[in-house]
Amino acid sequence: MGVEVSVEHLTKSFGSQTIWRDVTLTLPSGEVNALLGPSGTGKSVFLKTLIGLLQPDQGSVIVDGTDITQCSAKELYEIRKLFGVLFQDGALFGSMSLYDNIAFPLREHTRKKEDEIRRIVMEKVDLVGLTGAEDKLPGEISGGMRKRAGLARALVLDPEIILCDEPDSGLDPVRTAYISQLLIDINAQIDATILIVTHNINIARTIPDNIGMLFRKELVMFGPREVLLTSHEPVVKQFLSGDRFGPIGMSEEKDEAVAAKEAAMQAAGISGGGTKDDFSIIQPQVQPNPGMPERKAIKRHRERVKELLPSLPESAQEAIRRSMAEEDEVAARNRGESAQVPAGVGAHARSEAGAETQADLNAPAGADTSGQTDQFTSVDNGHSPSDAVTEQFPAYQDGSSSDETSAGGRHHGDGATGDDRSGEKSQGR
Ligand SMILES: Nc1ncnc2c1ncn2[C@@H]1O[C@H](COP(=O)(O)OP(=O)(O)OP(=O)(O)O)[C@@H](O)[C@H]1O
Ligand SMILES: [Mg+2]
Repeated sequence: MGVEVSVEHLTKSFGSQTIWRDVTLTLPSGEVNALLGPSGTGKSVFLKTLIGLLQPDQGSVIVDGTDITQCSAKELYEIRKLFGVLFQDGALFGSMSLYDNIAFPLREHTRKKEDEIRRIVMEKVDLVGLTGAEDKLPGEISGGMRKRAGLARALVLDPEIILCDEPDSGLDPVRTAYISQLLIDINAQIDATILIVTHNINIARTIPDNIGMLFRKELVMFGPREVLLTSHEPVVKQFLSGDRFGPIGMSEEKDEAVAAKEAAMQAAGISGGGTKDDFSIIQPQVQPNPGMPERKAIKRHRERVKELLPSLPESAQEAIRRSMAEEDEVAARNRGESAQVPAGVGAHARSEAGAETQADLNAPAGADTSGQTDQFTSVDNGHSPSDAVTEQFPAYQDGSSSDETSAGGRHHGDGATGDDRSGEKSQGR
C-alpha cells in the first residue's frame, strides 16, 4: 500500500516573500491527488517541500511516520527513496541519451544486470510512448517527449509516492489522456500515493480522488474531488471554468473597482473566455484499463466521501451520488469485459503482460532497489553524470534563484542532502 503523506501547519517563505502559510492536508495512502492553483502560487515549492528539498519555516511533513523537516540528513536520504518525482522541467541529464537517463536510477541503486535493466527501461520507454527515441539526447527531442522521459525515469523503480509536477505541460491533449491513464493504471498496479500538480481541468475532473487548491498564499480547499468540483467557492469556480472574470487576476488579486467593471461586462454579455461546462455534473473518474487490478483506494475514498455527504449542499450530494452510481456501472462493465480485452490497449496491455516485471520490481524493494532517489537526479546543467550521482536532487537549485529549470546542484559528497536544506534556509533570509 502507498505511503500516507501528512502536512501540518506548513509555512514557507523566501526572504520576506511568504509563498503559502498554514497548509494542512493529508495525501491518503494509495490515493491520487491533484494540486491546482494559479501560476506562481507555490505548487512546485510545495512539491519540493514534500521531499525535503526545501525547508519550511514552520510546520511538519510526515512521511511514513517520520517528520522530514526534523529528521537527520541520513533519515531524509532514506525517506526520499520512497519517492518518484517528475520535476516541472523534466530534469534530464543533457549529455545522456534518454535510455541512459531512464536507466540511471537502476544502475545507481540496484545490482541489476544490464539485460534486466534493458528490459525494464524499454518497458517504461514503451509505457510513455517513446519507443524509437531512446537513443536521442534530451536536446534532440520535443518538450513533451522530455516530459515523458522524465516520467519514465520517475517510475522506473516503482516508487510508493509519485509526485508529478505538471505531467501534461507540453503534451498534446491525446498524449495527456494517455499519461493520465498511465498514472491511474500504475496506481491500480502498485497502489502508490500520487500527487499531480496541474493546470489541466480535464485531469482535475476525471483523474484524482482528491483535489487541493492554492490561492493567495493559502490552501483554499483540499478534499475529495467531488466536493471541490461542485464547490461554489468563487476562486475554485473561476479556476475550473478558466474564465478571466473572478477573483483571480493576471498578476495580483483584483480590487473592488475592477470586480465591479467585470460584473458590468458580464451583465452586458461579454465573455470572460471560460468554459460554460456544467460543473454540477461530475464526470466519471477514469478507471484502470481492462485487465488491470481494481484500484484499492477506491473503497477507502468512497467511505470518506460518504461520511462527508451530509455536510454538503443538496446539489453537491446529488451530483456525487449520481457520479458514484455511474462509476459503479463503468467499473462493472470493465470487469465484465476484462477477460476479452487483452490486446489493443497498447502499452498498458504490454505492461500487463509484464506483470512479472512489476512484481519483480516491487518485491526486492528493500534489497536491490535500495536507494532509488537518483531516478530524478540531474538537469541539463553541464554536470557530468558522475557529478550528479553524488547528489540526490541536483535538479534543484536551492534558495538562490526562482528559476528551477536552470538548476545546478552543489556537490554534497555522499548525498547528505540535509545540507541542501540548510543552504536554502540560510540563503532565503
Ligand atoms: N528557490 C527559490 N528562491 C526564491 N524564490 C523562489 C524559489 N523557488 C520558487 N520561488 C518563488 O516562489 C513562488 C512560487 O513558485 P512556484 O514555482 O512554486 O510556483 P508554481 O505555483 O509552481 O507556478 P507555475 O504554475 O507557474 O509552475 C514564485 O514567486 C517563485 O518566484
Ligand atoms: Mg510550478
